[in-house]
Amino acid sequence: MSVEMNLTRAQFDEVMVPNYAPSAVIPVRGEGSRAWDQNGKEFIDFAGGIAVNCLGHCHPALVSALKEQGEKLWHLSNVMTNEPALELATKLVQSTFAEKVFFANSGAEANEAALKLARRYAQDKYGEDKDQIIAFTHAFHGRTFFTVSVGGQASYSDGFGPKPQGITHIPYNDIEALEALISDKTCAIMLEPLQGEGGIIDAEPEFLKAVRRLADKHNALVVFDEVQTGVGRTGELYAYMDTPIVPDILTTAKALGGGFPIAAMLTTTDIATHLKIGTHGSTYGGNPLACAVGNAVLDVVNTSEVLDGVKAREQILRDGLNAINQKYHVFSEVRGKGLLMGAVLNNQFQGKAKDFLVAAAEEGLMCLVAGANVIRFTPSLIIPEADLAEGLARFERAVASIASN
Ligand SMILES: Cc1ncc(COP(=O)(O)O)c(C=O)c1O
Repeated sequence: MSVEMNLTRAQFDEVMVPNYAPSAVIPVRGEGSRAWDQNGKEFIDFAGGIAVNCLGHCHPALVSALKEQGEKLWHLSNVMTNEPALELATKLVQSTFAEKVFFANSGAEANEAALKLARRYAQDKYGEDKDQIIAFTHAFHGRTFFTVSVGGQASYSDGFGPKPQGITHIPYNDIEALEALISDKTCAIMLEPLQGEGGIIDAEPEFLKAVRRLADKHNALVVFDEVQTGVGRTGELYAYMDTPIVPDILTTAKALGGGFPIAAMLTTTDIATHLKIGTHGSTYGGNPLACAVGNAVLDVVNTSEVLDGVKAREQILRDGLNAINQKYHVFSEVRGKGLLMGAVLNNQFQGKAKDFLVAAAEEGLMCLVAGANVIRFTPSLIIPEADLAEGLARFERAVASIASN
């Protein structure tokens, strides 16, 4: 029997583990790039559930894929395969460098699989000593203990006892540091082609070329974490497609399900062979509901209409943020790619990104931060231009309220 409940933000503190600090607002409905809270207040969504809702809220193609699959078959586990998973894997193989796909449920899980595979591949081919993973400061790869340890923020990985070993961090975009560190002991270099959580920092093409060259020289694998950049976010299906290199392993999650949890690790046949039967797995990975939605997402996103539209919207967003800055002088830089954009606060507003987020919410705009000094924008890839303009107008009011204080 269901009980009528008056659900409030205050209850969060009573019944939820206190590892999050959600805002006071509880959204209850979304449509396209707009959402409404319990009191009917409307928001323009420039956050997209942290770069997840690539087609906005309740896109009709995703809703119908989910409904249709929901009436057919929900779950089997990997004791059996299923049609939506086979279809989605085929689409991913056809549209990327990859020849093989492993499905998971979250970015962290896809990265966990990638790291285990890189270690196993190196161990099988070159022996147990080849275990070093090179990673980068400010990187973010998820919250499992392996992925958070490979991530470059000690504050996230400290305090949980002994960490997985064999991981070394160096500064992002630092070719000399990479040259100095890499050796035949290195099994993988793991990086985001554009650091998201770390502050919206793009990899320099020369740095990526060095990553590929040095990895090849030392028989190490290049692992691209495209959990945030993937599925159209930067204006390509995957960000690597607009870089001078191709990775050996790529992870994708977030936008792959447009809001339904799904992730995948993509790789070549030669590398995939090393995850033999029983070496790795997941109960839900490749779940038919998730894969049915993933298929619908790819069908919509992997088109020139949507991908070119991202580049057009990028320009509008960038111009809008720059225009706001010309009036209020709050940013030192507007950076990023596609619809993964960061406005970097200047010296006067250091550490205040959260204040802008709160002020924006008051004005009816959802946006994000990436660290304490960067306001992050990851709207739907198909946000209507009118919503983009209205969101920018609301953001301008938020900026004005802080700058005039
Ligand atoms: C680049 C990157 N990798 C991994 C993750 C972790 O993904 P998830 O939260 O789905 O485990 C994130 C999440 O923000 C991310 O941005």
